[in-house]
Amino acid sequence: MSQADPLEAVISAVKQSQKYGSASEETIRKLAESALRQHKKPKAAIKSVRKQLHSIMAPYLGDPDYAAAAVRLDEAFASGQETAVKSVCQDILRTHLSTRERQPIVAEFYERIFAVTGRPRSILDIACGLNPLALPWMGLNGIRNTEYRIQNTEYVRYVAYDIHETRIDFLNHYFRLEGLPPLAKLQDVALQLPQETADLALFLKEMPRFERNYHGRGRPLLEALQVHWLVLSFPTISAHGGRNLTNRYREFMAQLIADHDWPVTELLFAGELVFCVEKGAKG
Ligand SMILES: C[S@@+](CC[C@H](N)C(=O)[O-])C[C@H]1O[C@@H](n2cnc3c(N)ncnc32)[C@H](O)[C@@H]1O
Repeated sequence: MSQADPLEAVISAVKQSQKYGSASEETIRKLAESALRQHKKPKAAIKSVRKQLHSIMAPYLGDPDYAAAAVRLDEAFASGQETAVKSVCQDILRTHLSTRERQPIVAEFYERIFAVTGRPRSILDIACGLNPLALPWMGLNGIRNTEYRIQNTEYVRYVAYDIHETRIDFLNHYFRLEGLPPLAKLQDVALQLPQETADLALFLKEMPRFERNYHGRGRPLLEALQVHWLVLSFPTISAHGGRNLTNRYREFMAQLIADHDWPVTELLFAGELVFCVEKGAKG
């Protein structure tokens, strides 16, 4: 630890870590500042930052080999075959627990949600993980010719937010191949609220962890999002032990939006409980 400034030393040590080095520097900096207020020794502060990043980034949920996955996507798009693109996207989605669990129901999932919300022209995918690769199942495609080429490129404005830098670079690579603008953003939404407006925001399977990691910031985030529809989801079964969580998350959701006059439509899927919340004005 050669840096004289303990804050820079802690940030640099975490940035060098294989497991947490791809976290956004802004997130690491905030955690490091707070850890150094609690721990005098940089070693203890580094340990504390890594522990919190473990909970925030959830690396245990899985990742693809990003370089290999990008090459597979290049080949699939170059083949011009929609089935090839879908097959590679599916393999990549299966490397992360959230999207792996959703994959068997993914087409029905978006069909039923958009039956409630209407087909969005613009989406904010908050704490997105790998979910943007589910685009081929969302039924939002522009007019494609028989080859996998999009005729009207701007068929949806898709903005995705995550704090995982390698994942964000990879998602932008995918967006470019899809003919979409590279709007995946490295942004900690607990520190910087999204400013973009859209028809709909997805916040899938992350609110319980978000509230645990950033206590009390879930509700202000939902209030700040400048969208007509909020779509939140929760797992119905706990990852450990198989407990049914449906009622617990119904209550949690009701508390999150208590005192707001926002109509809610609940949709229950195998493994996932969804709430479509109509905020109304885009702000
Ligand atoms: C459970 S995973 C992905 C879930 C994804 N929405 C889905 O359902 O497929 C949670 C993701 O949220 C990201 N994340 C956690 N806290 C975040 C924050 N404050 N800002 C942006 N992304 C965050 C993590 O890096 C991780 O990729």
